[in-house]
Amino acid sequence: MDHITTELQNLGIQTMPQFPGVQLYPDLNPVDVYRAVIIEQLQSITGAEPQIINNAVQWTQDLKHGDLMLPVPALRIKSPKPDELAKQIAEKFESPLIEKPSADKTFVRFFFKPEPYAKLVLPSVLKNKEDYGFNGSLGREDPSNSSSKKQKMVVEYSSPNIAKEFHTGHLRSTIIGGFLVKLYSRAGWDAYSLNYLGDWGKQYGVLTQGFEKYGSEDELQKDPVKHLNEVYVKINQDNSKEQEPLKPLLKRKEELEKLKLPTKQAKPAKGEKPPPPPELTAEQEQELQQIEADIEKTKEDLAAIPSIDEKARQFFARMYKGDPAALKDWQRFRDLSIEAYIQMYARLNIHFDEYGGESTVKEENMERAAQVLQKKNISEDSKGAVIVDLSKHGAPKLGKTLVKKRDGTSLYLTRDIAANTERFEKYHFDKMIYVIASQQDVHVAQFFKILELMGPPYSDIVAKCEHITFGMVKDPKGQTMSTRKGTVVSLADSLDHAKEFMHDVMRKNQDKYEQVEKPEATADILAISAIMVQDYSGKRINGYNFDMEKMTSFEGDTGPYLQYSHARVCSMERKTAIPADQLLTADLSLITAKEGIELVRLLAQWPDVFLNTYKTREPVTVLTYLFKMTHQLSSCYDAKDTSNRNAKTMSVMYAETAEKKAALMALYASARQVLSNGMKLLGLSPVERM
Ligand code: ARG
Repeated sequence: MDHITTELQNLGIQTMPQFPGVQLYPDLNPVDVYRAVIIEQLQSITGAEPQIINNAVQWTQDLKHGDLMLPVPALRIKSPKPDELAKQIAEKFESPLIEKPSADKTFVRFFFKPEPYAKLVLPSVLKNKEDYGFNGSLGREDPSNSSSKKQKMVVEYSSPNIAKEFHTGHLRSTIIGGFLVKLYSRAGWDAYSLNYLGDWGKQYGVLTQGFEKYGSEDELQKDPVKHLNEVYVKINQDNSKEQEPLKPLLKRKEELEKLKLPTKQAKPAKGEKPPPPPELTAEQEQELQQIEADIEKTKEDLAAIPSIDEKARQFFARMYKGDPAALKDWQRFRDLSIEAYIQMYARLNIHFDEYGGESTVKEENMERAAQVLQKKNISEDSKGAVIVDLSKHGAPKLGKTLVKKRDGTSLYLTRDIAANTERFEKYHFDKMIYVIASQQDVHVAQFFKILELMGPPYSDIVAKCEHITFGMVKDPKGQTMSTRKGTVVSLADSLDHAKEFMHDVMRKNQDKYEQVEKPEATADILAISAIMVQDYSGKRINGYNFDMEKMTSFEGDTGPYLQYSHARVCSMERKTAIPADQLLTADLSLITAKEGIELVRLLAQWPDVFLNTYKTREPVTVLTYLFKMTHQLSSCYDAKDTSNRNAKTMSVMYAETAEKKAALMALYASARQVLSNGMKLLGLSPVERM
């Protein structure tokens, strides 16, 4: 018999009530035991439907307001009035598990009795261990049947550009995407990680020339990502010098074209016509034409030199046609970069099931899409190029976009359109998520919209897709980071820097330091926890400032603080060395201090926190909870046990009896388990010593 049944029978509850159409998981979630009791009582008091009651009962942000609460209007009962009904419920409600509820205006607040609560919650944690809190039915085809088929999810994230830097935007996408894959996997989805490398385009023609001029085979083997980036930056400077004569022309052209755009104006009053769009004067129009001609001429001159840009164009044309000689270096750069990425991702606990990329999108699929666009009159010809004017198709904000260049080569957007279908043909996913920075919101909205306009099957596939966007990372002063300013460091560099930083901190405590088995590896884990926790500290859409000092601190809500809380319980577990079965049978009625009871209540919330995270898909939902819980845990260590004069504290070292020690350790070990489960969900590796 499981501990839940035993505990309920001790309280005179023979069977767990069940309700058709209401999904409760008492084995996974102790709070569901209470939901069942509340539904049963409320049904008999008010006559409301179980499903309605279940949807109405909510968990509270702050335990002051109860373990669960009921906003009475959500029962949708007309009479008596909600405040009156709240009073009636409070009066009639009766359960050995729950204190007499209180009516607070139109709310009923439920506080659970501490002793049975601890007896239900802690053994659940200790038995379910690394699975406590996770509900693997959510992602099934039939969530009420945990052996029904898993749904398939593809998450595309990270997606750096070979040769260009791996910037903080890619790092954020990596961290958030890695989290989503873990979240969905724990919810029972079959989740795949896909890396869509930026590995195609004229820039590889630029890079190859750069490598001829500046490359070093040694450096390339040592740190390909860094070296290729250095080479790329140098050759681009040369390129930019060559393009100098074009710059003033392009600038003036842009100025003139801006004049043509309608300026923002107050909405015309009713009946009034909106003002006509602004036009260029005849002189300006003539100037624009002259400038366009000059641009063409300058480009021809540059092509004749031949310039880096022109050579790159020709080189890419050879790559595009599949010329093996042209592809040789590119393939090598790509392979070496992937090898280096794999190592970096491993430090972040991330593994990709597929390294695809723009280069792998098939020409024939882009052609197929182009034909659909043309046949359905979605695309139109514009001076030899093909464009889609989304404002003509119900999306005025998305404007016009190029889908094929004049020379017939594809674009970033075209590749995304074709890749979407290709992925479906490969994975047959139920859902696909793109984790891409908010700078590309318009790009994503454009290719989603185009796929939607293309109709079935394209529109059906894109309906299964979602863009998860996120804000920008800035430097500690809130400035954007860029290679030019030298504030962007390579990912490997910033990981190494953070690692050194943490290593120094650890060395300050020589005694402890000597006991850490692999100090270097531990410093690395701590550093990565610091970076990840900082990333998770706000909602995804908000950006943040990359602040090494702040994130590596042990004070405040940081990664190292979580690691410290975890390692501290591990140390207690080593010192007390109480076997697991003794923890399971410990007398939990000995946990009487309010700090301890409060901790039990928080541990019980973890399964609901997971459920809520599954809805918000915000890592901060997990993080906020973990900080609240660890703060509570640390307040236990020096709590006074007022109900027992002999027990001065909740510290295991001073526990007056072996029984008390076991009860306290059952509590702390449970807290450690929940902390570990939450950290792993976030992609952190909890350490045992530090
Ligand atoms: N490689 C792109 C960049 O660094 C990001 C790719 C995002 N994914 C996509 N399907 N467009 O900007």
